[in-house]
Amino acid sequence: MSASPVSIAVFSFLDAAHRELGQQLVQLRALVDAVESDGMSLASRAQAQRVLDYFSGEARQHHLDEEKHIFPALLSSQDPDMVQTAERLLQDHGWLEQNWLQIAPALDAASNGSQWFDPAELRHALDVFEALYLDHILLEETVAFPEAKKRLADLSTVGMGREMARRRLGVV
Ligand SMILES: [Fe+2]
Ligand SMILES: [Fe+2]
Repeated sequence: MSASPVSIAVFSFLDAAHRELGQQLVQLRALVDAVESDGMSLASRAQAQRVLDYFSGEARQHHLDEEKHIFPALLSSQDPDMVQTAERLLQDHGWLEQNWLQIAPALDAASNGSQWFDPAELRHALDVFEALYLDHILLEETVAFPEAKKRLADLSTVGMGREMARRRLGVV
């Protein structure tokens, strides 16, 4: 069965979220470079705030989108490899959150013009965060999303899009 327009919209939204994630990782890398070479500028402070807001907000919402609507479709698969993939992706979200909690305090300080953190440590934490994120996104785009798309094709995804929008508005 071909995908419904709403299903296409949900997956387009998830794909757009991955593009945005990639761009935010580039911004974060540029910020760490700038802090290391020039110290704290007003532009870096503003940049730190934007990246902090993104990964503390929309990136976490994206993980919830997947945990609520995409991974369950894979976890209910009869294919053990697919179940294992979903379990790994879920575990990645936990690791990414741990990595982020190591990065966020430094960015919070940077956004306030304070540089108590060690830029070399921040760079190392970013290296780990970025590598895991890029690997995670690749696995989702090559395995998880195509499989979820097939499995959800004959279901209405209207409820999914609605839940995703309402959660962002804080309406539960
Ligand atoms: Fe994910
Ligand atoms: Fe994702």
